Amino acid sequence: MPRLTVLLWAAAQFVSAAAQGSEEDPDLGRQAFLRYCRECHGEDGDGLGKFSYTTGERPRSFQSGRFKLATTENAIPSDRDLEEIIRHGMPGTGMSAWNQVPDAEIEAMARYVRGFSLDAIRGELDRAVAAGELSAAEADAEFARRTTPGPAIEIPPAPPFDDERRARGERIYLEACASCHGPNGRRLRNDPMPDFEGNHTLPTNIVGGVFKGGNGSADIYSRLYLGMDGTAMPGYRDAYSKDELWDLVHTIERIIVEGGLGQPEDEAAMAAAATAARDASSLFDQPGDEVVTSNVNRDTSPILLGVGGVLLLLLIAGSALLTSRR
Ligand code: HEC
Ligand code: HEC
Repeated sequence: MPRLTVLLWAAAQFVSAAAQGSEEDPDLGRQAFLRYCRECHGEDGDGLGKFSYTTGERPRSFQSGRFKLATTENAIPSDRDLEEIIRHGMPGTGMSAWNQVPDAEIEAMARYVRGFSLDAIRGELDRAVAAGELSAAEADAEFARRTTPGPAIEIPPAPPFDDERRARGERIYLEACASCHGPNGRRLRNDPMPDFEGNHTLPTNIVGGVFKGGNGSADIYSRLYLGMDGTAMPGYRDAYSKDELWDLVHTIERIIVEGGLGQPEDEAAMAAAATAARDASSLFDQPGDEVVTSNVNRDTSPILLGVGGVLLLLLIAGSALLTSRR
């Protein structure tokens, strides 16, 4: 009965294909991660993918279990935080925005990425238990403490930015932030401030408005409230009231829009900082390599990129026109 055999075979194929289809779901995060993220973050999430040396600031090792961006009270990112980071990327770094990727894949990748951290922390604690440094119960408590996202931080509605608040925001900025970010939002200090992975981070140039965690008001508020875990950027929730934090957010926005605060820039202090930075950092070792110049380059590069982009578009449009004429 060959015909029946063929029918049975076809039915078997159909069933096994359907079974495979439903099996793929638990693997969605892994598959998507391998497709989009492996080249930078590495197959094991250790941040050592083959392009990891090309990104300036190196891709995160998820095995560290630490993240810079979060909106929770204990700075452990929620699922939503991780999804947003993947969707929007970290502007100004190699971490690109993946907002074209379907939501189901983004959500699965967020869980998959967290899985690397959970495994690494569990492994570390298991070793401590094996070495007799912790009891099993202590290890469980420590695991929960290091991996459970806290409640979302509460961001009160923005108060109006009147003259009094404008003066207060500026005063707090000058007393708390200018030492790193400069009196007009152009960083004064070029000495390396390594983050927890040894990345050579510098205080952000506020004037550019290009922030890793995004430049929406609520994004900036979260960064000021929590700081950026594992970096030199401190959190200010204990130092200032929520009202004062909002004044600071508005001051940051003012710097972006007005290009500074109209404060005097101390050229001598900037030159001294640049010299100190050159002495301190092997990255600026080359003779004649001006630290301040490289700083200026960073500021102008978006403009250059913009001009370059327009030229490229003109070129493409021109050649398209030529080919269509032919
Ligand atoms: C071209 C390289 C590159 C690719 C591709 C890439 N990343 Fe990244 N990623 C980076 C870099 C660089 C950083 C660290 C930036 C920093 O800390 O300044 C980073 C950081 C992160 C962080 C840490 C955020 C935090 O708060 O500390 C997460 C999560 C992340 N990437 C997820 C992903 C996922 C998921 C994908 C794939 C969809 C991906 N990345 C693809 C380069 C990349
Ligand atoms: C000790 C130096 C230091 C001080 C003081 C400091 N910052 Fe920062 N800040 C940093 C560094 C370093 C980074 C960049 C971290 C990174 O990119 O990983 C940063 C990043 C930022 C960012 C960018 C956030 C993002 O999403 O990329 C903003 C905005 C900011 N700081 C505002 C402030 C304000 C406002 C204050 C004062 C209330 C302040 N900083 C005080 C060092 C400092």
